[in-house]
Amino acid sequence: MTKTALVTGASSGIGRGIAIKFGEEGWEVTLVARRKEKLDSVAKEVEKAGGKAHVFATDLTIKGNPNNTIEFAIERMGKIGTLVNNAGLGRFEMVPEIKDESFQEQFQLNVWACMAMVRSAVPHFQKNGGGQIINIGSIVGYLGISKGSIYSSTKWALRGLNESWREELYPDNIKVCYVGPGFVLTEFNGRKEGGTSEEQEWAMVPGDVAHAVYCVATQGPNSDIKEVSIQVLDRS
Ligand SMILES: NC(=O)c1ccc[n+]([C@@H]2O[C@H](COP(=O)([O-])OP(=O)(O)OC[C@H]3O[C@@H](n4cnc5c(N)ncnc54)[C@H](OP(=O)(O)O)[C@@H]3O)[C@@H](O)[C@H]2O)c1
Repeated sequence: MTKTALVTGASSGIGRGIAIKFGEEGWEVTLVARRKEKLDSVAKEVEKAGGKAHVFATDLTIKGNPNNTIEFAIERMGKIGTLVNNAGLGRFEMVPEIKDESFQEQFQLNVWACMAMVRSAVPHFQKNGGGQIINIGSIVGYLGISKGSIYSSTKWALRGLNESWREELYPDNIKVCYVGPGFVLTEFNGRKEGGTSEEQEWAMVPGDVAHAVYCVATQGPNSDIKEVSIQVLDRS
């Protein structure tokens, strides 16, 4: 039977990389983000790689949209085998400059939207006898960083949800995993896509995270990977 996944934040960066990896493995994937044209283009890449893609353009920070997203994916694919909560954003400000709006937008997408997706997906997983949830956190979900206190705390919060969901959901054969990468070359935080030539020397690429996500999504029936923390090799 074809394996199915829903990937949020699939219009660029890590989410696009994860969607293409699933496509290469012949999976059926629902791609979610706000920019429809970008999603359509990633859908073509997924299908060219050998998979099947469905596009759902939505803003996951708006009440009701996470639930509509889960319903769309179930309607199109029949079931969701793996849910990847990847959409996220970071705003970097010194403490006196922290804006209430940036605090809210980061918590709304990086924490609330993930919770709302999981809340809507769990009854579906329970009905189907199980499922896999993968939350894309960050290496800063394990430590603190200057100027990134709010971003870092959203990723700590997501790790707290991850740990609690694991305890609540494993009896229903629902596995939950936190994947926390270090620096990856993406458009994150307004970075130049593909990175500078200096960054290309040492940073990871989306495919590195996609590889780890695919390993988690295809683990054996008695295995339950709790978290994968991915550092860059050159930490000098
Ligand atoms: N790059 C890194 O160094 C790094 C390191 C550790 C963790 N991460 C995490 O990896 C994840 C992906 O980030 P990335 O690096 O791939 O950056 P990115 O290229 O900016 O991707 C962010 C994705 O989230 C989507 N998104 C943003 N706001 C949204 C909203 N309101 N509703 C729905 N989708 C929304 C964006 O698509 P639209 O704009 O089309 O909506 C985009 O697809 C994030 O959770 C980030 O925190 C990144």
